[in-house]
Amino acid sequence: MAEKTIYVLNGPNLNMLGTRQPEIYGTDTLDDIAERLTVQGAALGFAIDLRQSNHEGHLVDWLHEAHFEGVHAVLLNAGAYTHTSIALHDAIKSITVPVIEVHLSDPETREPFRHVSYVGMAATDCVKGLGADSYRVALEKAAAL
Ligand code: DQA
Repeated sequence: MAEKTIYVLNGPNLNMLGTRQPEIYGTDTLDDIAERLTVQGAALGFAIDLRQSNHEGHLVDWLHEAHFEGVHAVLLNAGAYTHTSIALHDAIKSITVPVIEVHLSDPETREPFRHVSYVGMAATDCVKGLGADSYRVALEKAAAL
C-alpha cells in the first residue's frame, strides 16, 4: 500500500523561525522542524509534506488539496491568521480531513488579540505552548487518528 501523507501547513512569518522573537518561538528554523518531522513521520509510516506561505489563500487552497488528495491529516499552524481568518475556519469545515491546530507559543497566555482562534473553533484538536515540540506531539496525535 502507498504511504499515507500528512500535510504540515504553516502560515505567515513562520518562514522567519530561528531568528524571529527567539525568546517566544525558540531558535529552531522551519527547516529544522521539517527534518525532524520527516524522520518521525517515516517511523510512524507517514510521508510529511511541509509547506509555508505568507498568503491566506494559499493555506485555503492547500486545505482543499488535502481533501482531494485524501491525505491522512493536516497539522496547521496558521500563525496570525489563526486569530483573524473566517476563510480558514470555513475551509477546515469544508473538508473531511482532520486538522490539528499547532502553535509554538500558547496564544491564550499572550496578548488578548491572540485569545480568539477561528482555526481552533473548527479543528479536531490543538497542541500549543511546547515550542517546536508542539509539532512532534501533534504528529503523534495525527498518526493515531
Ligand atoms: C503562533 C502564535 C500566533 O499568535 C502568532 O501570530 C504566530 C505564531 C505560534 O506558533 O505560537 O505567528 O501561531
